[in-house]
Amino acid sequence: MTSSSESGDRLVHDDMPPALSSMWRALKRGYEAEPLLLVVAFALSLLAALPDALLALWLKLLADGLLAGEGGLVVAASVGLGVSAAATWFLRVVSDRTQRRFRDRVTIALESHVARLQASVATIEHHERPEYLDRLAVLRDQVFVLDHMYMSLFTTCGWILRLGVTVSLLVWIHWGLLLLLVFALPTVLTSSWRPGVERVAEEKGASADRLARHLFLTATTAPPGKEVRVTGVGRRLVDQRRAAWDRWYGPVSLARWGSAWWHSLAWAVFGGAYVGSIVFVSAGLGAGPGNVLLVLAAGARLSAYLGATVGEIGFLRGIWLDGSRRMAWLEDYADSLDESADLPVPDELKDGIRLEGVSFAYPGTDREVLQDVDLHLPAGSVVAIVGENGAGKTTLVKLLCKLYPPTRGRVLVDGVELARMPAEEWRGRLAGAFQDFFRFEFQARRTVGVGDVVRLDDGPAVETAVGRAGAEDVIEHLTRGLETQLGPSWPEGVEVSFGQWQKLALARGFMRDHPLLLVLDEPTAALDAETEHALFERYAAATRGDAKAGFDGSPDGRITVLVSHRFSTVRMADRIVVLDGARVAEVGTHDELMARGGQYAELYDIQATAYR
Ligand SMILES: Nc1ncnc2c1ncn2[C@@H]1O[C@H](COP(=O)(O)OP(=O)(O)OP(=O)(O)O)[C@@H](O)[C@H]1O
Ligand SMILES: [Mg+2]
Repeated sequence: MTSSSESGDRLVHDDMPPALSSMWRALKRGYEAEPLLLVVAFALSLLAALPDALLALWLKLLADGLLAGEGGLVVAASVGLGVSAAATWFLRVVSDRTQRRFRDRVTIALESHVARLQASVATIEHHERPEYLDRLAVLRDQVFVLDHMYMSLFTTCGWILRLGVTVSLLVWIHWGLLLLLVFALPTVLTSSWRPGVERVAEEKGASADRLARHLFLTATTAPPGKEVRVTGVGRRLVDQRRAAWDRWYGPVSLARWGSAWWHSLAWAVFGGAYVGSIVFVSAGLGAGPGNVLLVLAAGARLSAYLGATVGEIGFLRGIWLDGSRRMAWLEDYADSLDESADLPVPDELKDGIRLEGVSFAYPGTDREVLQDVDLHLPAGSVVAIVGENGAGKTTLVKLLCKLYPPTRGRVLVDGVELARMPAEEWRGRLAGAFQDFFRFEFQARRTVGVGDVVRLDDGPAVETAVGRAGAEDVIEHLTRGLETQLGPSWPEGVEVSFGQWQKLALARGFMRDHPLLLVLDEPTAALDAETEHALFERYAAATRGDAKAGFDGSPDGRITVLVSHRFSTVRMADRIVVLDGARVAEVGTHDELMARGGQYAELYDIQATAYR
């Protein structure tokens, strides 16, 4: 995929798909998940709508029968009323049960669908880009109410059916009563316009809302607790949260009040028309009491039905359309990244990885954090990357892991563009540990084992990985060894120190036996320099095919990319890359770079002096 079509795609995927097709797609998802339940629940909710709507008819017939002294009609109308009442109750119970069952099942199906989509997206752009984050935050909240969308659709259809029956009854009395519907139009308009206006205000303030939540969590949860107390920033956080919330709520509340006012006005118009219609039927048409009763009952129902219909449609627009559009967007987005990767990942590396004129700016930003990077990472070598904070080391690692495509230039793996290899397959051949590792709060065995999901429960593999990372001491300290539950918030869960978590993360990174690329992005920052040095010496040995390191030592051309700020570790790499302000400043071995007397030599001397 070229970089221009890449940016073209991005533009497209900033827009959400059209409403109706999204809704249709979501409906299909529900049908795929639970076809029978969906059909039955839908049919029942339609059936349940009928008895209620026919009430006005029975009342009219009853009054007519009584006035004309027709016993048969009175009995028929009374039976109709009785059956209506019983059926209303019965159908409501049955349809509630069915709907609840459908909801429970479809919720799980949709939640899994959204979670799978999010996790399967090949890049992590959607986790790092503000506009997408806002969109996904809303979807994440909505996913728990996605089941309401189906209920809402069923209910809407039920209300429309009631409305249809009621309108037919009114027209049966006099077609002029159709005017009632015209007077009801403003209520339809304000109801359907309302949620949109409120949602726009909500979405506009979404980042303030996200900030407020973030600040709330920061002020109230355990992980930041220590720093919050030491710095005494707690009060400030509370105030800032309040301010952020106000920034979100102010405009939202204003929008809500404004729309409520117009809505009330519209209903006042309809109320006037309803009174007018009763006067018209009784005085104007001189209709009998039966017909007046029907208009009275049906007219009153009309307003209730109409209110319910438009309210439900509003809800549909707000939640269903919006939620389904977000879901459709995520589906399209995930699809769009499902690149046309047509070339296999090689079994072993011969030449290595080459970066040609690689530049990169994070999506949604203009600043290039990598610029015209040309690099060769030879097969079977250990390459160290050094540079100041923010120089782009982690970014370079992310590009190598195919978490992002370069904005310009290409990454070649043994001469083949990385862009043309399936991301999943490539990542299957990666191993490594990251600066911002995650604490998987599982049993220690699994915390390490997830490094190679297919061997999650492979005991010997986990133990080997622990050995490679030099994390045996962590496991020894755990009361139940590898079976210990980690994370104090779980039953019998224990907390381990930051350095211990990091060692486990490192072990996780070593689960795979034959990675083509091993990335170590400051995974040992919490360890002491000596331990780090000893560990890296072993990785280096493994990379060079030495069997003693606990790796099986087959020289499959593995490349180790190591990011570290410790020059004592860095110096033993085969090749050292110095990044400076988004560019490659120097490349060479330790001796070459020292002889050159450039930036590396200078930094090395500073650290060496400090240690002396
Ligand atoms: N997700 C992101 N979105 C936008 N900009 C980012 C993102 N991540 C990093 N950056 C920017 O990219 C630049 C390089 O960051 P990077 O994390 O690659 O630096 P680094 O060399 O690894 O630094 P450190 O030594 O602190 O780990 C920084 O200026 C940073 O602000
Ligand atoms: Mg970094």
